[in-house]
Amino acid sequence: MRQVTLLQIFNHPIAQKYVKRAGLAHAISASYHAFRLSHEFGVNPDLAAKAAFLHDMGHYTWYKNGEWDFNLYKENDIHAIKGAERAHKLLVRLGEDRRFAKEIALAILLHTDSYLPEADLNRSNLQRVVALADEMDEEPNGRHHYRRISEEKAYEKLKQLDGMIEKALYERKLKESV
Ligand SMILES: [Fe+2]
Repeated sequence: MRQVTLLQIFNHPIAQKYVKRAGLAHAISASYHAFRLSHEFGVNPDLAAKAAFLHDMGHYTWYKNGEWDFNLYKENDIHAIKGAERAHKLLVRLGEDRRFAKEIALAILLHTDSYLPEADLNRSNLQRVVALADEMDEEPNGRHHYRRISEEKAYEKLKQLDGMIEKALYERKLKESV
């Protein structure tokens, strides 16, 4: 039913490079949160989990003298824009449905308003789910980006989430057909 799984995304070199750079453990936790929230908000769990998994893949590390410089980040960061574009390219390359790829990219683009001049977004439910999932896993001073997870554990967790998504999609379909 799904064109692309989380594991396929995880195994692609683009995700390996950029999702890991921003923090693999954070990406996985956020995707689990998004999965749980998707039910509450009535959005597609597959899109929510994928968008949350990829939401920070546009990050660049803003360091000055070996330390994270929040001002430098605030002034120059466009990670949501870059991430949306990278995720879209990756998903299309993997054969994702184009409408889904667009929805996921938009949810990534709007997961934060830190780079926008006016912080008053009217988000769709999917976009809200991804923003909330990110917030739920946030730690002070950006520590969530540095939490570690082994390759094996990451693989297991994503495989498990893939299974949960497939089950949830199947149940959604059953519900629709009633
Ligand atoms: Fe994040």
